[in-house]
Amino acid sequence: MLPNVLHRSASDHVPVLAEEVRELLAVRPGETVVDATFGAGGHSSLLVDDLDGDGRLIAIDRDPSARAYFDRFKAGKKIQARFLRGEFSVVLNQLAANDVQADAILLDLGVSSMQLDRPERGFSYAADAPLDMRMDTAEELSARDLVNEADERELGLIFRRYGEERYARQIARAIVRRRAERPFERTTDLADTIKQAIPTPARFGDGHPARRVFQSLRIAVNDELGALEAALPAAVRMLRPGGRIAVISFHSLEDRIVKQYFREQARGCTCPPEFPICNCGNEPVLRDLTRKPVRPGARELELNPRAASAKLRAAVKVGD
Ligand SMILES: C[S@@+](CC[C@H](N)C(=O)[O-])C[C@H]1O[C@@H](n2cnc3c(N)ncnc32)[C@H](O)[C@@H]1O
Repeated sequence: MLPNVLHRSASDHVPVLAEEVRELLAVRPGETVVDATFGAGGHSSLLVDDLDGDGRLIAIDRDPSARAYFDRFKAGKKIQARFLRGEFSVVLNQLAANDVQADAILLDLGVSSMQLDRPERGFSYAADAPLDMRMDTAEELSARDLVNEADERELGLIFRRYGEERYARQIARAIVRRRAERPFERTTDLADTIKQAIPTPARFGDGHPARRVFQSLRIAVNDELGALEAALPAAVRMLRPGGRIAVISFHSLEDRIVKQYFREQARGCTCPPEFPICNCGNEPVLRDLTRKPVRPGARELELNPRAASAKLRAAVKVGD
């Protein structure tokens, strides 16, 4: 089912840290903006306003349903804009290989409210739906495949690494035992099994007991960390000197990848610390604009609790 593209609905995405992104990306007329995670176009809309009718937008999203939001967006803006559907690391690499240059690039990671709130996408433990979780519905691997086919050790690792789930081993064991009788098909089957697998007192603290496992499966199904690692160098390659990049992450593993990458690129030199002088000759590529990540303030959290774990980092490409 297509989203209602004519009117913003209650489940449309509210852009996170929007003013902070706008300030850090400081878009000026005549520039090229790349929104690598278009979603409902909330950030794009603000960034394009700063182009003031002169410049262009390249919008990317792997989710086919984002195109309808883009079409609505484009109809309301007098700006050169195109939509490229695909995984951002692939698209950014293709653009860089074709010498397309950008002045401002945004990656607002994770899933949108439209994805979370449409039960049929299977991202939510709160609604009964097929166990899916693919952002790109043309991809082969779904959460159903992973839950029914990965071995117990692999499941435990996914839950611990991407969900920081304390009862990862117990949950993985319960899943393997239950699927021997009947494969998992629905989100609620999985949520019930998770609930039963953890000690009773732990079922009542820190949100829904299935929250962390669902998040970890989503990250694994969509290879979210691999995509981010491959996207950052391509994005920086596309930036003109003086171009800005901003990344909003919602998970400590994502934030660590961004922080380390910006730090390495700002240092330039890759020689081991014990070398008395630099041998590699590498020059800094980026200058960090946010030594500490920018977090949402109390007012934003009041209006949009989903912003709670957001961290924004930005950097500028060195040069004139
Ligand atoms: C948090 S939402 C972005 C919301 C958007 N900034 C807005 O204001 O409406 C993330 C979007 O990025 C897309 N996405 C996540 N990872 C992606 C990837 N590796 N490649 C392409 N799109 C991706 C998702 O499909 C989703 O639509």
